Amino acid sequence: MTTEKIRPLVLEYTIVSGDFAGGGKAASDVKRCLSQLGCQSEVIRRVAVATYEAEMNMIIHSFGGKITIYISSDNIRILCEDTGPGIPDIELAMQEGYSTASDKIREMGFGAGMGLPNMKNCSDFFCIDSGEGQGTKVEMVINL
Ligand SMILES: Nc1ncnc2c1ncn2[C@@H]1O[C@H](COP(=O)(O)OP(=O)(O)O)[C@@H](O)[C@H]1O
Ligand SMILES: [Mg+2]
Repeated sequence: MTTEKIRPLVLEYTIVSGDFAGGGKAASDVKRCLSQLGCQSEVIRRVAVATYEAEMNMIIHSFGGKITIYISSDNIRILCEDTGPGIPDIELAMQEGYSTASDKIREMGFGAGMGLPNMKNCSDFFCIDSGEGQGTKVEMVINL
């Protein structure tokens, strides 16, 4: 008998800068997958919110990137990686209500400055790595 664990299920999404029509696709897809796997509704909600906020941030603030979601028997890991322009002051960006979104973006209903705080609140582990001109990497883990 093998003692090897089942390999994680990997979902990959390409996020295009400015693609508001495509916004929410990754979140709704992972939600559907987790429902099919019989995941707890509270876990599904947290993964969906974290993924949605991450993909909207990439659409609004980055030059585009990739979200990879690893579903294993212990947890769900959401890895978000984009190219520039990055976040010069992470501590400031993490504050509730802080947003650099333009008036045009705010008119569309975005830019409340709650995305990063929400992502952190939804996660059991949250890590963000960024800097001016270097792109942004966010890792979130939600335990099962
Ligand atoms: N992927 C990203 N690339 C560049 N800047 C980002 C990214 N995600 C967040 N930011 C910066 O952090 C700020 C706060 O993000 P967030 O809390 O999601 O608020 P909002 O998206 O409503 O502005 C953004 O206004 C932006 O300046
Ligand atoms: Mg946001």
